[in-house]
Amino acid sequence: MTSTLKVVLAGCGSITNAWLPVTKEIEGLQMVGFVDLIEDAARKKAVEYGTPDAVVGTDLQKVLDATNPDIVFDCTIPEAHISVTLTALKHGCHVLGEKPLADSMDHARKMVAASQEAGKIYAVIQNRRYDPNIRRLKAFLESGAVGDITTVNSDFYIGAHFGGFRDRMKHVLLLDMAIHTFDAARYISGSDPVSVYCKEWNPAGSWYDHDASAIAIYEMSNGLVYTYRGSWCAEGLKTTWECDWRIIGQQGSVHWSGDQNMQAQVVAKTEGFINPYDDVEIPSEPAPLKIGGHHGLIRDFVECVRTNTIPETICTDNIKSLAMVFGAIESAESGKTVDIRW
Ligand SMILES: NC(=O)c1ccc[n+]([C@@H]2O[C@H](COP(=O)([O-])OP(=O)(O)OC[C@H]3O[C@@H](n4cnc5c(N)ncnc54)[C@H](O)[C@@H]3O)[C@@H](O)[C@H]2O)c1
Repeated sequence: MTSTLKVVLAGCGSITNAWLPVTKEIEGLQMVGFVDLIEDAARKKAVEYGTPDAVVGTDLQKVLDATNPDIVFDCTIPEAHISVTLTALKHGCHVLGEKPLADSMDHARKMVAASQEAGKIYAVIQNRRYDPNIRRLKAFLESGAVGDITTVNSDFYIGAHFGGFRDRMKHVLLLDMAIHTFDAARYISGSDPVSVYCKEWNPAGSWYDHDASAIAIYEMSNGLVYTYRGSWCAEGLKTTWECDWRIIGQQGSVHWSGDQNMQAQVVAKTEGFINPYDDVEIPSEPAPLKIGGHHGLIRDFVECVRTNTIPETICTDNIKSLAMVFGAIESAESGKTVDIRW
């Protein structure tokens, strides 16, 4: 029989709509507490969820003391991730938190150290990894069909009119969105960042207060080069939210539109000025593991808590994706190439 795991939710804003329906579908999860700086928001969530008797409050520590949960789900704003995570780990809870891991590298390192000291899991929702298309692409690349990967490019162009806090935010594209892309680049390439040069700017006519466009060149481990070009202020011909990708291997290339569309060509034989190429089918995964966005990731996390195993988006790994964000920002601010450390 599946044992019951008690859960407290911290932060009861809009993203919890992607979390709470999932928790109902996972056997043996019991929501025992709801915390938000705005008490009404926490109470509303408890009622909506169908647990009006759950403990509700504005102070995480008090709710933890009253409920003694096994897990804390952190859906607060990035600036609050450190306090929520440290409080929860100190209380002996495992933590699954929304992206980004932290609002600075210094905070991120403290959180990783705290999870190691506590011997508890701290993992991050990097939901775009749990997408069947990226899993299909990765399986194809791992088959060696295009040879060793040397170069990865990604383009992200969406004219997004949010109209809220993002319009006023500094480094909005890099901080709020590019973490998904950088994490995908690490996953697709199987490599980690070494250094970055980044140029950030705000295009003329932008509806953002600060830079909403960026181009970054990363040197990755294994000598691989990864380039990112992106903008949230680009009208027309929009890419998918997953980006438009080109992956170049020693024997061929793959183009992935970020959705189900992907093509590959490999060298048919070595001959002439430009070699002849074969189109190669990229097989669909018959039963892909690790898919389902928030749903799949939360399910895997709970399974890891139960079986004492390590989730794919564990903080010790996810911090490398975060380091790509803060490396790019440091480079954009200094105008210099920056070594990336985590
Ligand atoms: N994975 C994704 O695709 C995705 C999409 C959107 C947002 N997010 C992330 O989800 C997080 C929350 O975003 P949102 O859109 O729900 O924001 P939101 O503003 O709608 O909700 C955040 C809530 O957290 C509460 N809060 C703030 N500090 C708190 C604290 N110290 N303790 C308890 N509650 C606190 C706020 O009162 C608010 O109700 C962010 O980290 C964001 O980057 C992820």
